[in-house]
Formats: sequence, structure tokens, C-alpha cells
Amino acid sequence: MLDLLITHATLPDGRTDMGVAVQAGRITEVGAGLAAPALETVDAAGQLLTPPFCDPHFHLDATLSHGQPRVNQSGTLLEGIAVWGELKPLLTEEALLERALAYGDWAVAKGLLAIRSHVDTSDAGLLPVRAMLEARRLMAPYLDIQLVAFPQDGLLRSPGGLDNLKRALDLGVDVVGGIPHFERTYQEGTASIKLLCELAADRGLPVDMHCDESDDPLSRHIETLAFETQRLGLQGRVNGSHLTSMHSMDNDFVSKLIPLIAESGVSAVANPLINITLQGRRDSYPRRRGMTRVPELMAAGVTVAFGHDCVMDPWYSLGSGDMLEVAHMGLHVAQMTSQAGMRQCFDAVTTNAAKVMGLSGHGIAPGSDASFVLLQARDPVEAIRLRATRLKVWRKGRLLSETAPVIARLSLPARTGAAS
Ligand code: FE2
Repeated sequence: MLDLLITHATLPDGRTDMGVAVQAGRITEVGAGLAAPALETVDAAGQLLTPPFCDPHFHLDATLSHGQPRVNQSGTLLEGIAVWGELKPLLTEEALLERALAYGDWAVAKGLLAIRSHVDTSDAGLLPVRAMLEARRLMAPYLDIQLVAFPQDGLLRSPGGLDNLKRALDLGVDVVGGIPHFERTYQEGTASIKLLCELAADRGLPVDMHCDESDDPLSRHIETLAFETQRLGLQGRVNGSHLTSMHSMDNDFVSKLIPLIAESGVSAVANPLINITLQGRRDSYPRRRGMTRVPELMAAGVTVAFGHDCVMDPWYSLGSGDMLEVAHMGLHVAQMTSQAGMRQCFDAVTTNAAKVMGLSGHGIAPGSDASFVLLQARDPVEAIRLRATRLKVWRKGRLLSETAPVIARLSLPARTGAAS
């Protein structure tokens, strides 16, 4: 007897009338027309059953703090960092935890079951780190959280930056972060990448840096990140987040850079909602979009995912934890409007995001976790178009969330004949 059987599901790869069998939290079988006795059977009625959404780039310590202590009036990255700096002395562990847990509820309801969150390690007290470690522990039964040690104020630029980051890793933070474009000089940015990659190699940890979040075409830290990845044998464990300067780089340089990124096994995360709002702020017109070169990186074989980055924080006053909204913006900004392009954007918030995070057990296949989302949509393109309702969200065979389907109830007055 199975624990759960889903019938008549459509899968993201286009297979229809699929059955998914679940036993002890894992998928045991996936097949067309599958039928078997189960404690619970759910008829998907042809709707899309997708692996859960994953957010490979977020800031759980800052989320839902919008307006505290004031609103970012200019909307720029730098004023956002300044507002966050004003909020930091006022933070409490309780408030940080409460906001993170509230966002966790939003995420689960949207079928978002894994989040890689950068956590600010700049201050010696490591208050955000302690709060996010506790948030990770409390949410572990329903949400996978990875934490990245993020030296928001600069690794070498802020006093004690390297020591604070190391202590965050000692406390159990999962990934080594960085912010080379925010260091005092280009040379210090380069030095920070080398230091952080060596630290990750020593400790056997992955790397995920905010890298080149700038419109300056000469911000080329991604080149060093790819080089250090190769030098230290970190292939498959390193991600470059944002990479917005690539939008503005010279095409000749990019023609050499993208193959380097591909051969170094470095993945890339674009954050479409944030890139389109923070970048190009010093432009008059034409105004650059700022998002990195997503289709070109994908064509070269680089794993590219989309992150939400911010929800109601000093950098972005909108957002709801909906990764379909992220995919929707991503495909518009990248002009990935072909059917294949839109499906790639769906992958960018599901399979590719899971790959960037190094998640095992993600996917609808025998042996994978029985974690999936039933959407009120027939395929990935319709899911993005509608930001489709998450009808049911399961994690490891357990139903976590349900949302009623959207049903149009037309109540037009009955027609009585020809208009007079
Ligand atoms: Fe970020």
C-alpha cells in the first residue's frame, strides 16, 4: 500500500497522464497511467505537477523590514545599504526571527521549499547569524534553508570582516560569501576573492558571492572568481550572484569570459526583480536593464538560476515569495519569449536553482524526495503567465499547504434578446 498516489498529472517536461507513487517520503515510481492502492490518491486532472520552487539568492535577515527605520527614497543599492546600516543597531534576535519565520510561511504557501539566504556577518556580535541559524533550525521540518556568510560591509573594508566571517562559518553557516565590488579598491576586491576561495577550499565549503553588482563594465571580478575556482579545484561548488556588470561589458571581452565561466563550472544567479530596479540608476536615456546575459550563459552550458533576492526590505518594497513572479520578470528582461526560452525561465526557479544550491533529491523521479507542487496550470508557460495558484504543496510526502483554485463565476445578466 502506497502512502500517496498522484494520478493524471502533467510534468514540466510535457509528459501527460502521469502517476507518481510515494512511500515513506520518497518517490518510488513515476509512470504513465500508474495505478496502485494508496492511503490517499489525488487526481491532478491534467494540471502541472512540478518539483518545488527553490530560491538560490535571498536575504532572510532583512526581509519584511521595509520602512525600518525609514524608506529608501532613491531606490538605489547604496541607499539600501545605508538604510540597512541604520537598522542594524536596532535589530533584536526576536524581531529577526519573527520576520524570517513569517517569510517562511509565505514561501511554503507559494511552493517555495528551499532558500539560500545570505546573512550579514559584518558586525562582531553576529546577531543576524545567530537569529538565522535559529530560523534554519525551526523551519527545518518544512523548509530547507542554506545560509551564506555575507560580509555586507566588505570583507577587507570593514574592521574584523574576515574574522567575523570565519566565526559565522564556525557557528554552522553553510556557504562562503563575498562582495568584491564593494571593497575599497579593485585590487582589494581581487584579494578578497582569493582569500575567500582559499577559505572555502580549506573548509570544503561552497562559495556564493555577490559579484559585480554594478553597471561598471570594468567590474570584472567574475573573471577572477572563475580563475580561482579552477586553480583551487572548486568546480561545481562556486556561484556568482548578480553579475550585472556583464550587461554593460564589451562584447569582445564577454566572448572570452563566458567560455571561462563555463569551463570553470561556476554557476550564475540573476535576480531579475532587483536588477531591473537597482541597476541603471545613474543612466539618463537609454537606460540599461542591468541583468546579466542569461540566454548567452545558458547557451554556453552555464547553470543559470533566478533568485528573488529581496522582499519588502531596504532594497525592494515589493515581492511575495512567488518564484513565478521572478521567472516572469526574468523572461521579460532577458527577452526570453520563445516557448523554449520561457521553459528555461521556469527551470531557472526550479531545477537550475536546486542545482546551484547542490540539493539532492529534487525532481520528480524515482528515488527523489516526494516534494512537489500541484499548480493550476497546464504547462510551465501557463504557470508563469498566470503566476498560477499553488493548489497543493507537498514536502517529503506531507501536505503542507493548499490554496483554493481560481474559478471564474460569471454572473452577467441573462440576455433577453436584441438590444433596443
Ligand atoms: Fe543579494
